[in-house]
Amino acid sequence: LFAIVLLGAVIIYSCNKSSGGSGSTGGTTNTTSTTYNALYIPPTLTGTSFNISLAKSSKQFFATGADTPTYSYNGLPFWGPTLIFNKGDNITLNVTNNLTDTTTVHWHGFHIPPIMDGGPHQKIAPGTTWSPHFVVMNSASTYWFHPHLHEKTYQQLTMGAGGLIIVRDPIETALNLPRNYGVDDIPLVLTSRRFNADNSFNTNVNDYGDYLLANGTLNPQATLPKQFVRFRILNAEIERAYNLGFGDNRTFYVISNDGGLLDAPAPVTRLVLGVGERAEVLVDLSNDAVGSNVSFKSYNSGQTFGFPGGEPSTSGALGSLLNNTTFEVLNINVAAATSGAVTAIPTKLTTNTYLAASDATSTIVTNITAGQGSSEFAFDNNNYNYITINHTIPLNTVVKWTFVNSNVFGHSIHIHDIQFKIVSRSSGTIQPYEQGWKDSFFLHLGETVSVVAKFNDFADGTNPYMYHCHFPNHEDAGLMGQFLVTP
Ligand code: C2O
Ligand code: CU
Repeated sequence: LFAIVLLGAVIIYSCNKSSGGSGSTGGTTNTTSTTYNALYIPPTLTGTSFNISLAKSSKQFFATGADTPTYSYNGLPFWGPTLIFNKGDNITLNVTNNLTDTTTVHWHGFHIPPIMDGGPHQKIAPGTTWSPHFVVMNSASTYWFHPHLHEKTYQQLTMGAGGLIIVRDPIETALNLPRNYGVDDIPLVLTSRRFNADNSFNTNVNDYGDYLLANGTLNPQATLPKQFVRFRILNAEIERAYNLGFGDNRTFYVISNDGGLLDAPAPVTRLVLGVGERAEVLVDLSNDAVGSNVSFKSYNSGQTFGFPGGEPSTSGALGSLLNNTTFEVLNINVAAATSGAVTAIPTKLTTNTYLAASDATSTIVTNITAGQGSSEFAFDNNNYNYITINHTIPLNTVVKWTFVNSNVFGHSIHIHDIQFKIVSRSSGTIQPYEQGWKDSFFLHLGETVSVVAKFNDFADGTNPYMYHCHFPNHEDAGLMGQFLVTP
């Protein structure tokens, strides 16, 4: 056991900005010279009153040169903390802005009143505290929070501001699932960054990073027990979609996506996750030898620009060391099982009552088009502004909302307030991992996707909710609209 601990504890900052991210290429044994860093596990906050404060910070990513300037909550280096909410609790969040710039904080995926939502209208001036409060109505799943100030979302998110939110509820708690945070229940926030020569983030690129970061860790490795392990995966990228799977193509099981448990675990060998989407998966490490390595990767799908797993060519302004490649997102070092290990997956998780297209009493059609002036993209030709209300939805309406992508890029679409059901994808079938409650989805180039949702509980004739592309650079550039839910 001592040797295993040693293997797992190797933490060496060895990255070289000219050689790219992880060099591990495959199989279940690490035979390359990649030196791994222990996967950072953000600390948790629990209870009903949460204090988070945003300020400048820094993190050492490279062995040589300066630390990288970052933004983060509660003095952490980059990303976090993880907030844990219990369904039914009445919670208060005190968000203090210790930057010299305005910010907002959005509770992504939560069904809450619009003035608590933390969109672009709920500004937090420098030196002030914003204290939204709400009852947690969402089901157990993995959500997140992040800055959402119009025209500043990209910059503040890129600097590292954001964190996961885990919601627990009695249905999920009653299941025999891995739930020991950081031991067999692992947060895995995937993004990438490009660095300047002085180790600072390049925040002018606006596209694809060169270095994969998992929870802010370069070349990440986690020492995980020889049993069923749960990953809570968030795509917190700028634009890249991930096409995830294991180096030996083993089957793994999706148990939850954006807004709650699936009815039953969905077996997959690949999982496509666009920006803003989450998935909880179970992977069986019980047949792996202690001390062996298992590689979790993002696979090059070979598809063209705008498609999950496919990125623009490495030449030109949009190039990245990770584009059109298969790269490792986590190296797993297998250790002994823990006591209380989960040894089998439940065959049944919950019983969802989903909405169908036929339940809709109203329809909205949104076209992704070119925008005004030289703008490359907008909803229905109009770039976002704070005043225009694009849609008004009477309380309790079931809406079929169709997004038609007539644009030259793929986009990741997110709607605030609701969890919806994807009812059609023109490009083909709705994948098993998209069958549950969703608040975000990838809209391929040329594709039409329809979702159905009920806009219930919170009517407010004045304060809008947002819908937007979740590529933060696209959102900042105006690929965002707003809707009112009216009494
Ligand atoms: Cu995760 Cu409107 O955002
Ligand atoms: Cu977009």
